[in-house]
Amino acid sequence: MDRLNIIGGAELNGRIPVSGAKNSALKLMVACLLTDEPITLTNMPSLADTRFLAQLLETLGVEVYWPKGESTCHLNAAELKSTIAPYEQVRKMRASFNVLGPLIARSGHATVSLPGGCAIGARPVDLHLQALEAMGADLKVEQGYVKAAAIQGLKGAHIVFSMPSVGATEHAMLTATLASGETILENAAREPEIEDLADCLNKMGAKITGAGTSTIRVQGVEKLHGTTHAVMPDRIEAGTYAMAAAAAGGDVTLDGCPVEALGAMIAKLREAGVTVDADEAAQTLRIRRNGTRLKAVNVSTQPHPGFPTDLQAQFMALMSVADGTSIIRETIFENRFMHAPELQRLGANILVRGQEAVVKGVPHLTGAPVMATDLRASVSLVIAGLAAEGETVVNRIYHLDRGFERLEAKLNACGANIKRLSGEDE
Ligand code: EPU
Repeated sequence: MDRLNIIGGAELNGRIPVSGAKNSALKLMVACLLTDEPITLTNMPSLADTRFLAQLLETLGVEVYWPKGESTCHLNAAELKSTIAPYEQVRKMRASFNVLGPLIARSGHATVSLPGGCAIGARPVDLHLQALEAMGADLKVEQGYVKAAAIQGLKGAHIVFSMPSVGATEHAMLTATLASGETILENAAREPEIEDLADCLNKMGAKITGAGTSTIRVQGVEKLHGTTHAVMPDRIEAGTYAMAAAAAGGDVTLDGCPVEALGAMIAKLREAGVTVDADEAAQTLRIRRNGTRLKAVNVSTQPHPGFPTDLQAQFMALMSVADGTSIIRETIFENRFMHAPELQRLGANILVRGQEAVVKGVPHLTGAPVMATDLRASVSLVIAGLAAEGETVVNRIYHLDRGFERLEAKLNACGANIKRLSGEDE
């Protein structure tokens, strides 16, 4: 297993290019199942998760051409050879579950493993299943698999989600493109990745309006066709590097940054005393902190446009060294504080009480060996390691490789001192 060795204390200065968004790319890749014509995705992030989904799509019969090191991925689902998504592939990554609706829409039936829970919470799929059933799919859960058929075809439905779910909104939207008649999704999630998916689907001939708002309308069409689409930039990656710069100090500009999608985070960084220059037209975000200590601020995670849960761990790392006490509330997932005990190993003072973490800022963190537990938790340890004095070793970084493209290279180009080591955990 690889690990990262970080020598902390260096300021970050320079520019960091933002990669394509993992959580958009995964759903855009799934969209290829809805047409027998080729789909080309550009600005694709080469990550463990996107490579892994490519393998699942190949199992289903999709021809994937995506050479290593390239950011353009060609997908062609001219003919599907299987409608079964096996446990081994779906359990590793929840986004794989979103193949269910598109497979039913395309082939009339599908068998897809339930994704199961994961480290950050139970993460059920009831809202996904309710939406597919409302569209006329006949679903049975047997031996851990959802067995689905829609003999009469799928039909439009009026679906009111009991809470906004990113995955369920995307799954219902993908599926509704080929259902007969109109589908209305209410209390839909409003994350920017949903708009990106709708843009691509509309280029493929779908008729979707309202994506990015809480009511989405999809007028079903008979057939979708091929297209080329650029994956939107990754707001979570961008937010992570913004916080790394704020934690380490210095002057970093993020290029190709989805500034408009980061409003809640930018407001919190400014409240904490970070100088942030946001240029929407140029898509740049400049982050500066020149030695003055950060102020503690409270944060509560919310669905978009609120403060994203995917930046909560990183913000906790930042607040660990702020002046004062910060209360961090996690409202989206029930178990997303696993980074807290690891941050404590670096000297952070954090008390977790249910959905809240009380972070009393300390003047300095000190390096230590720590363990990555999930994707965003692992990058919060990198941020803390950059701010800490001495050496931090982050073990189990396969979590990190699921969602951050060339992390060490991007940070080292700005003056960080991070090395990847292979072999046993420390
Ligand atoms: N939920 C249900 N039932 C469902 C679906 C969701 O109860 O059928 C609950 C979840 O358990 C959770 C809440 O609804 O408590 C929100 O979950 P949501 O469905 O919105 O999340 P998701 O689609 O599973 C995506 C991202 C996550 C990100 C969340 C929230 C992808 C592949 N994943 O997950 O990203 O945290 O939205 O913004 O898009 C990550 O990248 O590290 C990551 C975890």
